[in-house]
Amino acid sequence: MKFFIDTANLDQIREAEELGVLDGVTTNPSLMAKEGITGKNNILKHYVEICNIAQGDVSAEVIGTTFDEMIKEGEELADLHEQIVVKVPMIRDGVKALRYFSLNGIRTNCTLVFSPGQALLAAKAGATYVSPFIGRLDDISSDGLRLIAEIREIYDNYAFETQILAASVRHAMHIIDCARLGADVMTGPLSSIESLLKHPLTDSGLEKFLADYRKGNA
Ligand code: E4P
Repeated sequence: MKFFIDTANLDQIREAEELGVLDGVTTNPSLMAKEGITGKNNILKHYVEICNIAQGDVSAEVIGTTFDEMIKEGEELADLHEQIVVKVPMIRDGVKALRYFSLNGIRTNCTLVFSPGQALLAAKAGATYVSPFIGRLDDISSDGLRLIAEIREIYDNYAFETQILAASVRHAMHIIDCARLGADVMTGPLSSIESLLKHPLTDSGLEKFLADYRKGNA
């Protein structure tokens, strides 16, 4: 399972990269705004900075909502760096854009996916990644993990190559459940990745080992 970090914060990306388990980065317009990155040139520059810190794929989202706008923006984003994956929303023109990018060798991440039907369309259009937002489904008392299982079943039935990128991950249990269900990738905040580290028996066990060592080596 690949681990992506879902942020535009350079320090957090650096920290995750240093941990040695990071496979890529996802961003979205809200995450860029949260870091105060505004204006086209600054936004493009920030994507390049992310690529220079992290190894692996970096999703950069188009803002346009028509086919022509998405193609123009997507081509510009893809030209920025070889690590860039163009993030395209699951809307009618987005599906057409996914097809266009796929035929033209540009990798894509189909975002804002909330149903198995949308995931099926994304795969048929040739998306590299599909991003089901599990946390946002849970937020409205729907079952985010069930969506992952349904997409896995559909993709396996037809050997679609589109990778399932479980998005809107909020905590360690989301990651573990997604891994059990066979999601190819998960993207979440640094805190969700770090929370995999923690177990009270690890902490108390280490404390005891070190105390015993100190007793014998005082
Ligand atoms: C995915 O690529 C999105 O950036 C993201 O996972 C959305 O997560 P949120 O629901 O926590 O905003």
